[in-house]
Amino acid sequence: MKVLRAGFSQKLDPTISKFVSSAKDDEALIEVDIKGSLAHAKMLHACGLIEKETLDEIIHGLGKVHEFYQNNGSVLEDELEDVHMNVETRLKEIIGGHADHLHTARSRNDQVALDLRLYVLSQANALIEAVSKLMQSIGNCAKKHDQVLIPGYTHMQRAQPVHLSHSLLAFYEMLARDISRLEETIKRAGVSPLGACALAGTSLPIDPKMTTKELGLDATFNNSIDAVLDRDFVMDIHYACTTIAVHLSQMAETLITWMTAEFNFVSLPDNLTTASSLMPQKKNPDGIELVRSKCGLALGELVSVVTILKGLPQGYNRDLQDTKPGVERITEVMLQAVAVMEITFANLKVNEESLAEAVADSGLYATDLLEMLVKKGVPFRQAHSMVSELAKGAGAKGKALDQYSLEEYQSVCPQIDENVYKCFVAKDSVAAKCSPGSTGTKKVAEALAKALA
Ligand code: ARG
Repeated sequence: MKVLRAGFSQKLDPTISKFVSSAKDDEALIEVDIKGSLAHAKMLHACGLIEKETLDEIIHGLGKVHEFYQNNGSVLEDELEDVHMNVETRLKEIIGGHADHLHTARSRNDQVALDLRLYVLSQANALIEAVSKLMQSIGNCAKKHDQVLIPGYTHMQRAQPVHLSHSLLAFYEMLARDISRLEETIKRAGVSPLGACALAGTSLPIDPKMTTKELGLDATFNNSIDAVLDRDFVMDIHYACTTIAVHLSQMAETLITWMTAEFNFVSLPDNLTTASSLMPQKKNPDGIELVRSKCGLALGELVSVVTILKGLPQGYNRDLQDTKPGVERITEVMLQAVAVMEITFANLKVNEESLAEAVADSGLYATDLLEMLVKKGVPFRQAHSMVSELAKGAGAKGKALDQYSLEEYQSVCPQIDENVYKCFVAKDSVAAKCSPGSTGTKKVAEALAKALA
């Protein structure tokens, strides 16, 4: 405690001490804090601010501190406020007076900003890896069922038949954008704030670019005041997590719907479903239901961090401490949720029989009929109203759109010929789609090959 409170006549009130400590939340930062200190010490020596012997002692001591925390787990002390003072205090216990040089030209303000940046970088990279694996799992699932057709929906109403693989590759695209957001996050997080000190820089001859290089970061801060307050990268990772959460939630909801008895398109094996404590027949998709709920958590954390940041005056403010736990919580939760989704797609069972029945619904082909007329030169709006009339008439007569006789079709639309019945063949409907990015059989095959390349 002496390290921090030199010059104070009283011990910090225990209620305040516990309240202001970030020790518990800082446990995830021990590793990066030590990494930052090593780089800082090397720079201090290179700039002639500490002796070689001191540097060697610090390197050796930080190695021991690292070992200590690896072997002892959660032992950061509240009384020492945070990871920075815990590591420094422990270092002093091991190497004595040499440790007193480590905080030269450094403040906890630039130190914590660095630690959080390094943590965000490592979590963002872990998320990219996890999301890439999920994309692979979705691609494999699409490949496995590449000839299966499914009704596509708009407004949750049956719309047009599509390849199941096209539907799955839509999820793949969403995740590709999530990766690009994580990459953007990495770009902005990879700026070293070390050397900004408390807020004003220092009169000591330091070289911040050297620590940047040593840490493998891309850039160094431009303005010392900005460097200690900037938590844009925290908002970035939260937003990236929130969009992942939105996407996973939409995937989960789609699958949950498809799993209902009403749809019966897909199912999950027993090892991925949970039982009801009361109803013996139930197999519930609790895993992906909880993936769906994580969106609420992600958005909550995003709103929370933006709200903390919005009213802060320039420079470091202790409020910034409260931006740390949310990042830790949400990145860990999202890593788990992405993994759950990955095994879900890897184990998804597709009920081909039930899907074949669903795509036999002739209403799904009304648009194919319409396009056939357009190809024959009927203006789109006229073709649309003719097919609407046929569809409505079929409904009123209690028959399907493909059950008219040729004469009946022609009484509404004289341009229709005997090829009309070909419109209602599912395979032909999707094979005929030729526009870029469509569910056309060839287009989907190309997209799939690209996804799996
Ligand atoms: N525990 C603080 C945090 O997490 C570290 C920086 C404290 N700086 C200070 N001047 N009190 O943000």
